[in-house]
Amino acid sequence: MNLIGVRPALSGISGSKKLGFFSFNGGNQPINFKPGGVYQIKVAVEEKQTLKLDVKGKVDRFANGHAGKNHSHLSTIGNSTNIKWHECPVQKTDRQNLLQQRGCVIWITGLSGSGKSSVACALNQMLYQRGRLSYILDGDNVRHGLNRDLSFKAEDRVENIRRVGEVAKLFADAGFICIACLISPYKKDRAACRAMLPSGDFIEVFMDVPLRVCEDRDPKGLYKLARAGKIKGFTGIDDPYESPSDVEIVLQCNTGDCSTPRDMAGKVISYLEEKGYLQA
Ligand code: ADX
Repeated sequence: MNLIGVRPALSGISGSKKLGFFSFNGGNQPINFKPGGVYQIKVAVEEKQTLKLDVKGKVDRFANGHAGKNHSHLSTIGNSTNIKWHECPVQKTDRQNLLQQRGCVIWITGLSGSGKSSVACALNQMLYQRGRLSYILDGDNVRHGLNRDLSFKAEDRVENIRRVGEVAKLFADAGFICIACLISPYKKDRAACRAMLPSGDFIEVFMDVPLRVCEDRDPKGLYKLARAGKIKGFTGIDDPYESPSDVEIVLQCNTGDCSTPRDMAGKVISYLEEKGYLQA
């Protein structure tokens, strides 16, 4: 690679012919140019490229696109052969700066009737009131569309969690605070969703509510049907729920006398604040 007409003031510029991209002081830092002018740097890779800088001397990634030919290899991911990841100039950090928050996934797990959806809604509302953007992926709701082809058999629950995990990952990458609330009964699947995200960005919340409390509430009448044998394979009755042992937040309720969803959501907000997710 040859950088033409570049002085030491631009020592932050580095590039990779092999990978076909350039980095300018980490990609997002101003270069020491006088403001007010439009500068051009000529960069020769395989062919001459002209990179535009904006008035502050930052590289205008939105105007430039990619420099050089891309030599990266094609991939096989699962059953998808010959695919290649396509990078775009607007990155997660740009979206986070726009939204003034950090993208993450709040994963709420627990039995049916444990209050997952109520906490998710309260949290969503409290974030909205603070000017923070969140979106809920509710197990019941997602099964109305994307996951309508899935049943409650073990393998379908695994696929349900995997898909929601992948969608949540996209939302987090978009800069959202994504609230996923599903029973997600198996530890292994929750761990797989955690592994999809950068460390710290998967925040698991356990609704630690005993079966008898959930069954007493029975908001949809499903426990009654399950006990009567009219629903087979109901979580907590004749299908397992694997309680998490090591999660970021536990919301407990041992008797019918529980904190309100708003109070519970408040604990999640405190966690987000403390970890810096409510600012860019
Ligand atoms: S999960 O196990 O695959 O994570 P998910 O959260 O999507 O479950 O859906 C759970 C909701 O589906 C429950 O809140 C309940 O309303 C409904 N449901 C219907 N059948 C079952 C069942 N067999 N077990 C648990 N929930 C069921």
